Amino acid sequence: MRYYYAEHQAAYQRLVHEGLTQWSDLFGETDEYDVFPNRPFLEHALTRLKLPAEPDVLEYGCGTGPAACFLAARGFRVDAIDLIPHAIAMARRFARERGVDVNFRVQDVCVMGAGGKQYDVVLDSYCLQSIVMDADRANLLAAVRDRLKSSGYYVLSTAMYDPDRVYDNEFRYDATSGICYQAAGPAEDAIQLDGTWYLPHRRHLQPAALRAELETAGLCVISQDGGDVICVRSHGA
Ligand SMILES: C[S@@+](CC[C@H](N)C(=O)[O-])C[C@H]1O[C@@H](n2cnc3c(N)ncnc32)[C@H](O)[C@@H]1O
Repeated sequence: MRYYYAEHQAAYQRLVHEGLTQWSDLFGETDEYDVFPNRPFLEHALTRLKLPAEPDVLEYGCGTGPAACFLAARGFRVDAIDLIPHAIAMARRFARERGVDVNFRVQDVCVMGAGGKQYDVVLDSYCLQSIVMDADRANLLAAVRDRLKSSGYYVLSTAMYDPDRVYDNEFRYDATSGICYQAAGPAEDAIQLDGTWYLPHRRHLQPAALRAELETAGLCVISQDGGDVICVRSHGA
């Protein structure tokens, strides 16, 4: 099982158990489905993008679907994927309750690969920081670039390095790579540091490092405010 699976599966089992509606409810950051954390940035981004009528959107890491439903209610044609079946089941229910049409499916974005439908917008609402290892992020960003129409936009919100964030004892932050590891038993993807097994947990980059990574992947950053970023395909990419 890949390092990013168990934590997310457990989180959605908790959401179901506690009758919550989205990921950020688990941390007391939200309590209404339609008020998701990157909504202000998304609303602002939409005023800046040149889009056709009924734009095609792909959201990966959609969770229970608050951003996907928000866009579908505004006339976007939305495909939305998440790794965790519980999340997709909840997303389908919330979309049905709101009378919006979203094509939700279970899919690991790291193995999505090239080819297939292209989109006017590819959206990430706080998934990327959970995709930690270089190879996985490179696969993800290659898939994003491949799925963008030549006039398309990648709209990304991701957690960043924060000097005030406190990593508890079970975590270990490597400032050089921006990787936060979590203590775990030996497992697929686990590494040993000073005799303790750790799993990759988060990637908390500084803004310049995130920008460099995106540009290496053939994505040209047209706007960045910390982890809130808008990209287009680089010229010639
Ligand atoms: C922080 S949550 C955000 C969920 C949702 N976007 C929201 O705003 O409520 C990150 C999401 O990314 C999903 N995810 C993590 N790794 C993934 C992968 N490899 N492929 C697809 N989804 C993934 C998780 O299951 C989780 O739903």
